[in-house]
Amino acid sequence: MSIEKTFSIIKPNAVKKNVLGDVISHFEKNGLRIAALKFGNISKEKCELFYAEHKERPFFGELVSFMTSGPVVLMCLAGENAVMKNRELMGATDPKKAAPGTIRAKHGDNVGENAVHGSDSIASATRELAIFFDKHEIVNA
Ligand code: RTP
Ligand code: MG
Repeated sequence: MSIEKTFSIIKPNAVKKNVLGDVISHFEKNGLRIAALKFGNISKEKCELFYAEHKERPFFGELVSFMTSGPVVLMCLAGENAVMKNRELMGATDPKKAAPGTIRAKHGDNVGENAVHGSDSIASATRELAIFFDKHEIVNA
């Protein structure tokens, strides 16, 4: 086990549902701490850069349009094994397949509007954090 940093987004559908407290509390109760946090809209350009690996997928346009449709919470989460821990807490991509009690099972609407994003590896976390945070903005790791 080691202390890691990962990148998390609370997506526009969860912001609209007014469940930010529940999502953040879920992370905090399960050993992750907020090391950095921003709340606001992301630009189409940054969103396309962030999701570059999905550029050729049929859902890319829909994904970018959803993620820029309203404010999101951008976070750096820190803790033991934070990358995989966050993935476990989120649950499967499709909320219908997500384990009971996971964030996506509770707050996801469908496979696209699935409430949260979490980096899938340490390399992804490093890349994604650098898109949205300057090093000095990570204040509580
Ligand atoms: P994420 O990157 O958001 O944490 O989710 P993930 O690893 O579980 O899923 P990934 O395959 O990386 O897909 C990224 C996001 O694209 C949307 N998606 N839509 N319509 C579809 O079939 C579809 N498949 C994926 C989801 O918002 C997913 O989180
Ligand atoms: Mg992913």
